[in-house]
Amino acid sequence: MRILAISGSLRASSTNTRLVRAMVALAPADMHITIYEGLGDLPHFSPDLDGNNAPASVHNLRTQLQEADGVLICTPEYAFGVPGSLKNALDWTVSTGDFSGKPTAAVSASPLWGGGDKAHASLLLTLTALGANVPRQAKLSIPHINKKLNDNGELSDPTTAQALSAVLAALEQAVKDLKNEK
Ligand code: FNR
Repeated sequence: MRILAISGSLRASSTNTRLVRAMVALAPADMHITIYEGLGDLPHFSPDLDGNNAPASVHNLRTQLQEADGVLICTPEYAFGVPGSLKNALDWTVSTGDFSGKPTAAVSASPLWGGGDKAHASLLLTLTALGANVPRQAKLSIPHINKKLNDNGELSDPTTAQALSAVLAALEQAVKDLKNEK
């Protein structure tokens, strides 16, 4: 199965992107995770740009979403919400319904104790609006993320690795359930 992973951070040494990379390594054998690289290329969403002649970067996002069996989002919290760049990407999917029924995992991470829980809640609201299928066990907020990565930016906390594996297992199951329904 094909999973598209989106990190909500554009930062070069992003902890959320590092978590996404850790999840690539933790993925079950039948799961192939591709990391979406185009977040920073998307123009600001405007209904005037939406439609058949949407910019190439938007077309690229939509194609990657359509080709994915499931999606994994890992986001930081900025000012108690998701980064604008991530919300912008999600807004580009409203008209096409690319998230409708799509098995989706929602993870947030922060160096603070809350684990980006407010961004996580906001992300879940947006995913509800988009009609995504977010399994209960595919939701995770990770506090103190800076203490869970080593100096090379690799995940070094076994408890977090276990929690991320459980998220991936829930996502895998949701994709399988959807395929069985078809
Ligand atoms: C933050 N940070 C932050 N953290 C948090 O838990 N709640 C918040 O509301 C905010 N707000 C916020 C705003 C802005 C503009 C910045 C730059 C940062 C801290 C944030 O969690 C931290 O920088 C993370 O490391 C960002 O995630 P990445 O880039 O490491 O994935």
